[in-house]
Amino acid sequence: MPRPQWASDAIDIERPNAARIYDYLLGGSHNFAADRRIGDQVVGVTPGARGQARINRAFLGRVVRYCVGQGVRQFLDLGSGIPTAGNVHEVARSEAPDARVVYVDIDPIAIAHGRDILADDPRAHTLGRDLRDPDAILDDIVEGKLLDLHEPVAVLMVAVLHAVPDADDPAGIIRAFTDAVVPGSYLAITHGTDEGNPERRAASSRSHGKPTRRSPSGARARSRAFSTGTR
Ligand SMILES: C[S@@+](CC[C@H](N)C(=O)[O-])C[C@H]1O[C@@H](n2cnc3c(N)ncnc32)[C@H](O)[C@@H]1O
Repeated sequence: MPRPQWASDAIDIERPNAARIYDYLLGGSHNFAADRRIGDQVVGVTPGARGQARINRAFLGRVVRYCVGQGVRQFLDLGSGIPTAGNVHEVARSEAPDARVVYVDIDPIAIAHGRDILADDPRAHTLGRDLRDPDAILDDIVEGKLLDLHEPVAVLMVAVLHAVPDADDPAGIIRAFTDAVVPGSYLAITHGTDEGNPERRAASSRSHGKPTRRSPSGARARSRAFSTGTR
């Protein structure tokens, strides 16, 4: 397949990448044969993977539309993946053309694709940052004048917090972002879980016998703890 314009030469399109596999599961067009091969294997093992990804992305779209309806014009999408297939800036702009978006992801490939896709967009930016470092992200936003933190911001942490272990203090990370935004701002979270899926839960507890990065089984309790004290 010829290299498309949105994938610069620096990106290896022969090697599968998690963000592009996720894009494939979403039904997006920013993926390659190597990604699709692994994506099909994922679906073979977890038949619901495609549906979960799409339900999650649909939720993201509803959140964005709701926030725009509440007058919010700024979005901080933490753990954004590749900004394609129902991405935040397009959904927001369909209702509010002046909406500004900052995408943040830790994956260099997702960031490289994001930069290529958004190269001509002065109101949408991608930051290659770890959300566990809120100060660095907030500094980038202020110094680059990417968002105006005196105006409301929708902070989105969609399908990413399960990658942040308790030891990294996810609640403290959330607080750092919610403390940085003004009243009238919003926080949206979804969290991966295997609750309600005994088979996956058993497999998960086998592989999670020792403390690991992910703790999907505690998703509900975690999410409750995360929202404590937010406004
Ligand atoms: C499952 S995807 C979710 C993408 C998008 N938020 C959505 O819901 O459609 C999770 C993304 O979070 C990113 N991610 C994981 N840990 C991160 C971290 N510590 N900081 C920033 N991004 C992270 C991954 O690279 C990946 O692109």
